[in-house]
Amino acid sequence: MDYALTMSTHIQDLIGFRISRRSVLRGAAATLVGTRPFGGSAAAKAVDGFEELRQGQDDQVHWPYGTHSMDLVVSWGDPLWSDVPRWEGGQTTAAAQARQFGDCNDFIAFSPLPRGSGGSVHGLLTVNHEFTQAATMFVGHDDPKAPERVAAEMNGHGMSVVEVKLSSAGWAIVKDGKFNRRITLHTPMSLTGPVAGHERVKTEADPTGRTVAGTLANCGGGTTPWGTVLSGEENVNFYWNGSVDGEGLRQAGHRAMGIGEHQYWHFSVVDPRFDLALSPTEPNRFGWVVEIDPYRPESVPKKRTALGRFFHEGAELVVDISGHVVVYMGDDSPDEHLYRFVSKGRFVAGESAANEALLAEGVLSVAVFSDQGLRWAPLKHEGVLAEHFESLADILIDTRIAAKLVGATAMDRPERVAAHPTNGKIYVMLTQNPDRKKSGPGNPRENNLWGQILEISPGVGGHTQETMAWTVMLEGGPRGVATTAPAPPSTSKDGLLACPDNAIFDSSGRLWVCTDGNERLNSDGPKSADALYVVDTEGPMRGRSRLFLRACAGAELTGPCFTPDGQTLFVSVQHPGYMGPYEYSGVWPQGEGTGPPRSTVVALRRKAGGPIL
Ligand code: FEO
Ligand code: CA
Ligand code: CA
Ligand code: CA
Repeated sequence: MDYALTMSTHIQDLIGFRISRRSVLRGAAATLVGTRPFGGSAAAKAVDGFEELRQGQDDQVHWPYGTHSMDLVVSWGDPLWSDVPRWEGGQTTAAAQARQFGDCNDFIAFSPLPRGSGGSVHGLLTVNHEFTQAATMFVGHDDPKAPERVAAEMNGHGMSVVEVKLSSAGWAIVKDGKFNRRITLHTPMSLTGPVAGHERVKTEADPTGRTVAGTLANCGGGTTPWGTVLSGEENVNFYWNGSVDGEGLRQAGHRAMGIGEHQYWHFSVVDPRFDLALSPTEPNRFGWVVEIDPYRPESVPKKRTALGRFFHEGAELVVDISGHVVVYMGDDSPDEHLYRFVSKGRFVAGESAANEALLAEGVLSVAVFSDQGLRWAPLKHEGVLAEHFESLADILIDTRIAAKLVGATAMDRPERVAAHPTNGKIYVMLTQNPDRKKSGPGNPRENNLWGQILEISPGVGGHTQETMAWTVMLEGGPRGVATTAPAPPSTSKDGLLACPDNAIFDSSGRLWVCTDGNERLNSDGPKSADALYVVDTEGPMRGRSRLFLRACAGAELTGPCFTPDGQTLFVSVQHPGYMGPYEYSGVWPQGEGTGPPRSTVVALRRKAGGPIL
């Protein structure tokens, strides 16, 4: 979610904008195939493999109807077990929500069943629930501090693990699947790595500083070759009651993370650890990457403090030629940074238990861009960082402060990082930075409204080197606004994109990019919904983007995820119909009169079979 943009969107653009509630009934759990289900045309022209969609915005999700099908897999409020009530008319309870699919689905990982099979028709989806959307979760409620509502909101955050299966009727969840699991703000997690047990993560409830209740603001993520899933705790600043007063290490750290500035959720009504006066160290226990084993529902998720604390978008893991595991990570805030973690240990092929310790220890570095290249500056307890911090644990808790001390480049909001499957290059989605005063290496535009995609080339030395080459592959926005890497002429006017966010590669080396800000494409004309694009990274069409899937109004598309065979593409439709804290529009994915829109995971397949493209 882009709070800055969302707030300005609904204040400046969306107020007064209402979508007609179409009088079209829509099956609630159907495979949507065949002819287009309503009038008008969202499809423009055939480009190899699919009909590119048209830019536009309405209350439906659009996909290439001629060539592909789309299944509704699971939505907010769906029970994961058969003894749990279904959501009704935009209402839930804390007890029900703890066992229903959570809200605002974001990152998706597909883990094959049986484990290690590499199969693509049966598996587990591990899904982040980034936040809750009060307007659709509690229709008619307007008291954000009602305790029952707050308790339900806490359970609507977190993650879900849910078994899914493909049949002739499409993809569907397996209720009562033995791996099904809800992870909420009450799920015990262990802090691992250099920060575990440190004074600054001890609380009254956890005097050991090693056990945290739950995870928060889970946005993007990643997967590991040993079968676990990584989840990024991102906008953790919106949850604490109280302000940060005075000077000192703790206060400076909280300010660097925006703790105590804005509060959108009122968890302190039911849980004192979200009151800064009562539990001043609790925020230090959030803002980490969490590692979860979806195949072991009883396992305790691990917060990996060696990977630093900031607004983690995702965690893109590659196994370097040296055997070290390397994780690339963006910190999604204006003028924050791009990071790299290199494990101390080396990967052992297969799902060996030894691999499970790889993310506990290593070196975190931050990116320093120049015209000559990219240098990774290590965040070690030495030099200027030893002068400023008492220990490596302090550096990791205050990663943002440490990064600036070693000269990290202020970036245009680094979102997802994606690793090309074969050429070794890394692609960074930089989403936007309207307040940027001065362009610089890696960030080519002042007042950057539209974002860019960077390409980083480690070269033959691999991912552990100190320096790498970089280039801007594509700048977003309408035609004529790019400065160094405009969309190539082969991009249609519908293929233009703005504000790249989530991204993933398919096995052919095409980059699939979701946007979070496409309305900026046509500020004076018809609205452009956020969408999913296919972007060529190599060959004569390098930089061309094509519009493949279009969100309904209010939504962004998040968490794109392929099955191992490349034949299914799962995507999260996140916060459909969102217009503000107490307003929504539309009914997607259900029909007229059947309640508010609901965040939903969809599955796309090619009707003729085979890879998606
Ligand atoms: Fe949750 Fe950075 O998007
Ligand atoms: Ca989001
Ligand atoms: Ca975003
Ligand atoms: Ca994101």
